[in-house]
Amino acid sequence: MGKFVIENSGALHGNVRISGSKNAVLPIIAATLLTDEACQIHDVPKLTDVLIMQELIEDLGGKTSWENNEALNIQAASISKTQVSYELCTKMRASFLVAGPLLARMKEVKISLPGGCPIGSRPVDLHLKGLAALGAEISQEHGYIHAKADKLVGANIYLDFPSVGATENIMMAAVLAEGQTTIQNCAVEPEIVDLSNFLTSMGAKIRGSGTDTIRITGVDKLKGTNHTIIPDRIEAGTFMIAAAITGGEVFLENVVIDHLKPAIAKLREAGVEIEEGEAGLNIKGATQRQPIDIKTLPYPGFPTDMQAQFLSLLTVTPGTNLVTETVFENRFMHVPELIRMGADIKIDSRSAIIEGVAQLTGTQVKASDLRAGAALMLAALAATGTTEIHDIYHVDRGYHHFDQKLRSLGAKITRVE
Ligand code: UD1
Repeated sequence: MGKFVIENSGALHGNVRISGSKNAVLPIIAATLLTDEACQIHDVPKLTDVLIMQELIEDLGGKTSWENNEALNIQAASISKTQVSYELCTKMRASFLVAGPLLARMKEVKISLPGGCPIGSRPVDLHLKGLAALGAEISQEHGYIHAKADKLVGANIYLDFPSVGATENIMMAAVLAEGQTTIQNCAVEPEIVDLSNFLTSMGAKIRGSGTDTIRITGVDKLKGTNHTIIPDRIEAGTFMIAAAITGGEVFLENVVIDHLKPAIAKLREAGVEIEEGEAGLNIKGATQRQPIDIKTLPYPGFPTDMQAQFLSLLTVTPGTNLVTETVFENRFMHVPELIRMGADIKIDSRSAIIEGVAQLTGTQVKASDLRAGAALMLAALAATGTTEIHDIYHVDRGYHHFDQKLRSLGAKITRVE
């Protein structure tokens, strides 16, 4: 297992291009199972989670190929099985996103229940309630979910929580169901809108994506399409913190500024200078910052996927900062590691109280999950001395060329295999 060795890097400077969104492309790859025709997806970040999803499509009988390392061609002309490999399911929770499309296309799916996850139990009850409402008969046997339906029929579905994955799975099943489906209290994340745009370009009839009620009229057949993935708002947020925590100046290209509003608002509140322009976003770290409070919420609230990175910044923001995590039950795994680097943080239930310190110090730390790993890398850039970050496969799951991009801005970072 590799590690990153990071030295205090001083102020980062330069331009960085944000890659296509990991969380948008994963459901879109799953959605290619809905047609036997060819689909081409552009600006696909070639990272581990994407490669797992690609392998999953191949395992089911689909054909895939890369073009110029950015476009992914997928044609699921024939699907040879309806059981999803246990190994692939356990490698990545997002594998569960093939349940909806496989059920719609093949009338059956057998898929492993996602196992535990470091950031919480992450059940799939809302996905299953939605698929059951569309007429699937669902049983659970030997750790697998087995869903079957002679035909899916549109229904009114109310989600108890606006789950991103459940909204996506239900959308992908409903586009081929008979009649109209209404999903209420659904997720409104930009990735939902991107999936909706992809499905619409395949011939699906969808209204209301990006609002809390999505209406879908089922069609008999979907066709192949060509689509470009939206920029990754979480990667953008991470580079915003890289500029802020090092007191540098970084220009982000390929961003949708609207998707970054919660992060921009919180950074400005802390004193970071942000300029919005046609070509992108300029972030200038302040020499003096003010403490802030953050509460994670579904979009357009502050994203849970940026909580860990912001928390790193707050460890060196003078005063008392408060971070409350409401989306996941156990998402403070980075805190003990930041404390090892000299941070002053207390956890009280779902909140972290952070007293800003003048300086973090480098040491050996471990990435417990994707965003926690990124948070430690950001902390390491500003810490004195050398920090070694272990278990970096978590970071490779979700950041495209992260270390190269940071190096191009002046970061002193080495990957040791
Ligand atoms: C997606 C993102 C993830 C992000 C999360 C929240 C992808 C591939 N992953 O994950 O990066 O952190 O949205 O923005 O897009 N829940 C239930 N029952 C369910 C489903 C979810 O109780 O059936 C709960 C979860 O345990 C969690 C909350 O709902 O507490 C949010 O989960 P959800 O929105 O479903 O996240 P994911 O789609 O798994």
